[in-house]
Amino acid sequence: MIKYLGSKRRVLPHIAACVGALPHVRTVLDLFSGTARVGHSLKRLGLTVHANDHNAYAAALATCYVQADARRWLRTAERLIAELDALSGEPGWFTATYCDRARFFRPENGARVDAIRSRIAALGLEPELEAIALVSLIEAADRVDSTVGLQMAYLKSWAPRAYNRLTLRVPELLPGRGKATCLDALDAARARRYDLVYLDPPYNQHSYLGNYHVWESVVRWDQPDVYGVAMKRTDVKERGSAFNRKRTIEPAFRAVLDAVRARYLIVSFNDEGHLGLETVRGLLGERGSLQEVAIAHPRYIGHRIGIYNPAGEKVGTPGHARNHEHLFLVGAPPLDERALERIAGAELHARIA
Ligand SMILES: C[S@@+](CC[C@H](N)C(=O)[O-])C[C@H]1O[C@@H](n2cnc3c(N)ncnc32)[C@H](O)[C@@H]1O
Repeated sequence: MIKYLGSKRRVLPHIAACVGALPHVRTVLDLFSGTARVGHSLKRLGLTVHANDHNAYAAALATCYVQADARRWLRTAERLIAELDALSGEPGWFTATYCDRARFFRPENGARVDAIRSRIAALGLEPELEAIALVSLIEAADRVDSTVGLQMAYLKSWAPRAYNRLTLRVPELLPGRGKATCLDALDAARARRYDLVYLDPPYNQHSYLGNYHVWESVVRWDQPDVYGVAMKRTDVKERGSAFNRKRTIEPAFRAVLDAVRARYLIVSFNDEGHLGLETVRGLLGERGSLQEVAIAHPRYIGHRIGIYNPAGEKVGTPGHARNHEHLFLVGAPPLDERALERIAGAELHARIA
């Protein structure tokens, strides 16, 4: 899966342990799904998952990993991806924008993105198969990019991986049907009732669309107007999220909490966000019984690699390397200390199992 700010890759076993501790959970809404890896792992547990995110690239990831049924698509996807991977590069808008005017990818890989994406568009595929092909392309491009994992800047000198050939792989599809939507969280939250809703909203000023604008343009293939050194889509300026602003995050979070209909909530929050943990505890406590587990977590990828200016030059040294990811459990029957410890130590537990 792609490098992603705030991805819950390392927290997945803890989330799964949390879900496992809840009685009678069959349907789940992952309201801010990002890479869709949480939805994917809950689908693997046999739950019926709905994954939602307001960005088109995230909705493509959710369509591929949560909605698409491997039994329906795997063989077709294998054939399609082999056919796409065999195409020769054909430089076009993508190469001109992200390899010549900016330097996110080597031109030979940019030309492969142009050729493969144009072919996907020309094929007029069914939406689930198209999402599988797009995810395969985004993930292949992510493996050969020349960034620190964020698309607000590219590296001054090419990253060694950028010289590798962009190569498509078949995404890990799972059997069973789920649902993916590309809606504002409030609209998705209101749609129906679930046994469980998982909430992992943005918690600071980093705009996901601004940081992953290249994936948005690959998925939309709308060849938008772009600006600045990073060639961001101009609509990044208009399509902000209330969760990225200090002034609006609290009312936005409260509105989502009022809108969701579920027996249980699991909420991820970080101790370094705009919204203090005391405020989060207060808001969640209004909804029902509240239990909490703190998990030490390496900081986001950009932070671990260093601090860079928009030209990709290192300008500072990162501070402490760990923060705490908090998992809040709302509305659940009281868990005893052993169960909470199991959730906090889930990584070890998962390894033993
Ligand atoms: C912390 S990330 C989620 C990460 C995800 N759990 C994962 O493991 O990859 C937050 C996500 O919320 C999405 N988002 C931000 N504001 C939103 C809104 N108002 N409605 C829906 N999604 C939103 C962003 O696009 C981003 O993907």
